[in-house]
Amino acid sequence: MTDFKQLRKEILAKTVEYYEARFAQKEFIPGKTRVNYAGRVFDEEELCNAVDASLDFWLTEGRYSEEFSEKIAEFLEVEHVLLTNSGSSANLLAFSALTSEKLGDKRLKPGDEVISVAAGFPATVTPIIQYGLIPVFVDVDIPTYNIDIEMMRQAITPKTRCIFLAHTLGNPFNIEAVMQLANEHDLWVIEDNCDAFGSAYKGKKTGSYAHLSTISFYPAHHITTGEGGAICTNDPQLALLVRAFRDWGRDCYCAGGENNTCGKRFSQLFGNLPFGFDHKYVYSEIGYNLKMTDIQAAIGAAQVDKLPEFCERRKANFKHWTAIFSKYPDYFVLPKATEQADPAWFAFIVTLKEGTPFTRDELTGYLNKKLIETRNLFAGNMTKQPGFIGKNWRIADHLENTDYIMNNTFFLGTYPGLIQEMFDYAEGILDEFIAEKTK
Ligand SMILES: Cc1ncc(COP(=O)(O)O)c(C=O)c1O
Repeated sequence: MTDFKQLRKEILAKTVEYYEARFAQKEFIPGKTRVNYAGRVFDEEELCNAVDASLDFWLTEGRYSEEFSEKIAEFLEVEHVLLTNSGSSANLLAFSALTSEKLGDKRLKPGDEVISVAAGFPATVTPIIQYGLIPVFVDVDIPTYNIDIEMMRQAITPKTRCIFLAHTLGNPFNIEAVMQLANEHDLWVIEDNCDAFGSAYKGKKTGSYAHLSTISFYPAHHITTGEGGAICTNDPQLALLVRAFRDWGRDCYCAGGENNTCGKRFSQLFGNLPFGFDHKYVYSEIGYNLKMTDIQAAIGAAQVDKLPEFCERRKANFKHWTAIFSKYPDYFVLPKATEQADPAWFAFIVTLKEGTPFTRDELTGYLNKKLIETRNLFAGNMTKQPGFIGKNWRIADHLENTDYIMNNTFFLGTYPGLIQEMFDYAEGILDEFIAEKTK
């Protein structure tokens, strides 16, 4: 009889060999190799886990999903972690959980207001609009790029029910002040931690403060599963609601392949269904299917072990960029960590000062032409995006800094794949550009 265990061992040994041959060698040729802003950083462990999960061929949530979610829970020190197929899905699910009728008067309803910012990624805002609530956009501070807390205080009205904010590019917003305001006004808080997995505020990890938080595992983020995301909470009711919305809206919370976890599968009354209707097919929410596969989770289970080291490398890379850009204090506003925060920087964000003898687009155009990738701060000013024009949102006071960012701000990568030679090359290119523009 075929020895499957032995075969699996041989396949995994070959996988290590394949990794070495295919991926291990990385050569940097200045001017020829791209200095990416982000990318997958992995070794044979991720590859072996992916192959191992494929050989299980369980496919849907299984042993690796359990391992991955437990490791995230341990890292963030949160009770419940639910895996999803993307960070955007995680945001949608976190928000939809708060619309459940099971929350009674506390549930979010169409027409309620939700505080957010316009200088960010759309996935933090789109669920608000999709559920018929009104995003209230508050301006951000430069150089933390996070919400202006004083303006946020002013923006709260009797219609405000929730605060939904991202820790911008890994820099924690003042989550303590936000939670305090939320407590005073009885508001829900969702932390979009998609760009900040590993950051901390006052020694406690971001993503562990709010009622719900989310993570993205898209390759640009701190760890990757390709596509993927997670929702974290310490509230068992919210965890059940997120699970229900994630899993077709069903009431039952049995793990895949399991039955009758609650022990009452055929002995309950739901809605207008007959008594004892199979709980497995009871739908208490208008849900989706946004689950992760076990192959993705297997990759994540290996990636998450590397997260502390990845965060350290992001911080070191941030320092490299700081040294390069601080040579030109007349032209650049350098990023600043929020007070008492320890960011695992997603990126190095730069704003051009007023009167600088070149534009943001001239500089980023030059850098990109020289294969140094840059990005703008996502949507710039979301209210000016075609999809948002004419939708039901409100600007609190003004968005002066947001507009300034839309025109004058960009970011470079801090991901762990960057090496010293890349910084040396980029420094030369920046010097060259500035010399040309200022001669
Ligand atoms: C702050 C923020 N939230 C949410 C997302 C969405 O994550 P995903 O790409 O996994 O859907 C992103 C995307 O990169 C993001 O930057």
